[in-house]
Amino acid sequence: MEINGISQFKTSEDGVSQDLVNFINSAEIPFIMSNVQERITPESAWGALQQHYEQLNRNGELQLNYLLRDDPHRAQVMSLATGQLYLDYSKNRLTTVTIDLLILLAQECGLQEKIHTMFAGGIINQSEHRAALHTALRLPIGDSIYLDKINLLPQIQQNLMQMRLLSEKIREGRMVGCTGQVIKNIINIGIGGSDLGPLMAFEALRFYSDRGLCFRFVSNIDSSDFIEAVRDLDPAECLFIVCSKSFTTPETLSNAHLARTWCMEKMHHHEMITKHFIAVSENEHGVAEFGIDISTMFILWDWVGGRYSIDSAVGLSTMIAIGSENFHDLLCGMHDMDQHFLNTPLFENMPAILGLIAIWNNNFLMASSVAVLPYSHYLQRFPAYLQQLTMESNGKHVDVNGKMITVPTCPIYWGQPGTNGQHSFYQLLHQGTPVVATDFIGFCQPLHDHMAQHDILMAQHDILMANCFAQTEALAFGRTLDELVRSGIAPELAIQQVCTGNRMSNTILADTLSPASLGQLIALYEHSVFTQGAIWNINSFDQWGVELGKKAAKKIASFLIQKDQIRPDEIEQYDCSTQALMLHYRHRRDV
Ligand code: F6P
Repeated sequence: MEINGISQFKTSEDGVSQDLVNFINSAEIPFIMSNVQERITPESAWGALQQHYEQLNRNGELQLNYLLRDDPHRAQVMSLATGQLYLDYSKNRLTTVTIDLLILLAQECGLQEKIHTMFAGGIINQSEHRAALHTALRLPIGDSIYLDKINLLPQIQQNLMQMRLLSEKIREGRMVGCTGQVIKNIINIGIGGSDLGPLMAFEALRFYSDRGLCFRFVSNIDSSDFIEAVRDLDPAECLFIVCSKSFTTPETLSNAHLARTWCMEKMHHHEMITKHFIAVSENEHGVAEFGIDISTMFILWDWVGGRYSIDSAVGLSTMIAIGSENFHDLLCGMHDMDQHFLNTPLFENMPAILGLIAIWNNNFLMASSVAVLPYSHYLQRFPAYLQQLTMESNGKHVDVNGKMITVPTCPIYWGQPGTNGQHSFYQLLHQGTPVVATDFIGFCQPLHDHMAQHDILMAQHDILMANCFAQTEALAFGRTLDELVRSGIAPELAIQQVCTGNRMSNTILADTLSPASLGQLIALYEHSVFTQGAIWNINSFDQWGVELGKKAAKKIASFLIQKDQIRPDEIEQYDCSTQALMLHYRHRRDV
């Protein structure tokens, strides 16, 4: 049996062999040997939460109209503030006892020990035997963090300095291509964490970006992505950032080669690659093989996961867009949230509380999805970014010890900005049957408040935020049949208009959307994800689930690409559906 890459073991009756126990005990971090189902006992915190839920539910005490009207201090008690962020979690279907029991659960799972282990560089990515030290990337100058007896800060600061020199050169118009033309188009080629973070950060901080530069993001192996991204660009003015930690990701390498061909067609110059391509990677060999000078390469370390890498050289396009000072503010915002997460007692710890409420919604109220609803046009890519952060981290079914987890783990994260979503999927949120937990995000001050139409713009922001608050209220209270009939609506129509309400939401507010507040928001969710992973006892930092599809695609591609007829003995290894799809495709492809 293979557990997390640990080879053959005879499992004893408790499912974990003595050899494995010895292995785990010899590991650098104190494993919390118990796993979720072993904690689901009446006397455990999980068992207590289960009984608590059943009791509240039986007594009708989970009704938000009751909870919110019964205690006028509820919002004050169930809100937290740190840095620029304010979290109102009072519109969740829970009581203060729920929070106490969730904190007890966190303590039982060793959350605080796990937090300290992560920040200290413990090997918490067990299956890849790596630390997860994205928090080191935003440590202030002069701080130190040791991994294998080496202080990481000097190399981190060196990388940031290298990023700053390049971004200043480009922003000051001092970078020219092989034809002598000034570089003004920055195209990031990457996918997953090498795209979602940079794209989200660029869109979120567009207000702070240099409008004289053009930024594009290419990720899909569908060549339309690249073609449309560069259609209106002059290659002589383009700089391609090939962003790939492994430098083996097929989509990224394919697009990098497409970009190189595109440039070569337009610029026959021996310095073309040197002047128009840079790499962000940990794979020097792969970068050199592509033809990029590794002395210009920006290093990525193996202790930074892709979905946790916006604060690394993966954020190079962001730094070029907003400048090194603003990028520094982004890192400071992340660091502030780190310190809060590391040093604040759980009952006042924003990421811990957000993560524990997510556990309550997912595992006790059975909300199988979370809608992230930013009331900010600039945060339009934030839900997509969170999808990888949450679901690639915690979309797993075995725990760190390789034991099957018998309770639901990561819910489905999705979302779109408000108010657009109100004209799309809010119907389901208000009257649908699925239980959807919601995270509303908004800002108290608009960024565009210096325009001529001052009054109109400010009013628009007020209307935007009115919608945000109104939606959380409507989800909580709904509209009863009695209210509708009393308002004069015919009963047969009123029944169609009933909104059950009692639908949970969190609301996160920041003063304004800035590099610092975005940094706090990103780190808030990074650590909420960590909190949830700690409760399920999951390794939130590997992603073995993506390998199977990658391998299968490689094999099928070899059939679809080949020009001669696919031999029956070759295709018969596939199921009838996949065979039919491949043959239909081949037939229609060649017509
Ligand atoms: O989706 C799998 C994954 O490895 C992600 O974790 C990662 O962000 C993405 O692919 C891209 O990987 P790379 O940066 O190595 O190209």
